[in-house]
Amino acid sequence: MLDELVKGNRSYRRFHPETALTLETLKGLVNLARLSASAANLQPLKYFLSAEPQSNAAIFSCLAWAGYLKDWPGPAEGERPAAYIVILGDTGISKNFGCDHGIAAQSILLGARAQGLGGCMLGSIQRDRLRELLQIPEQLDILLVIALGRPKETVVLEEVGPGGDIKYWRGPDGIHHVPKRRLEDIILT
Ligand SMILES: Cc1cc2nc3c(=O)[nH]c(=O)nc-3n(C[C@H](O)[C@H](O)[C@H](O)COP(=O)(O)O)c2cc1C
Repeated sequence: MLDELVKGNRSYRRFHPETALTLETLKGLVNLARLSASAANLQPLKYFLSAEPQSNAAIFSCLAWAGYLKDWPGPAEGERPAAYIVILGDTGISKNFGCDHGIAAQSILLGARAQGLGGCMLGSIQRDRLRELLQIPEQLDILLVIALGRPKETVVLEEVGPGGDIKYWRGPDGIHHVPKRRLEDIILT
């Protein structure tokens, strides 16, 4: 079951707009992050939740999507995320967030996937602009944005070919392909 959940937990960037997410759903996902591992158990992460058109649009305007898809500017109106979780690091608790936000993001996305939802972590963020638009206090570092919704695209995994190219691509049928390195190529024996 976990195997299927992890395999199905792809980065989804196009969504069904008619599926709204409630703040309760987002809080449930943050609760999974809250229960996850944290270096020295400092738990320095905070979360900004957005499930409203106005704040969603503000967040969307600060993001860069799928850098390898040069001809695709990101999800069009009508296929954009229904909600976002912005992961913040409280510098009053720690100056170094290590991999806490990666672990939190994975818990959130696995939890979303288990409910038939999906999303994408985004680290390519216009941080100054986002801070201003959402009025995020200076004490909180903007670490990651997670876009969420009900996926409207098919994403399939491929094996990295002999040329070693790891760039994902989208076929004419709209299917998004993600090459993964082979197990034997990443384990040192
Ligand atoms: C830390 C991190 C930052 C990322 N930032 C972005 C981003 O800014 N924009 C984007 O479209 N995807 C982003 N991604 C998603 C990756 O492109 C994606 O994980 C990769 O293509 C592999 O696809 P998969 O998640 O389906 O395995 C990010 C992923 C991670 C882990």
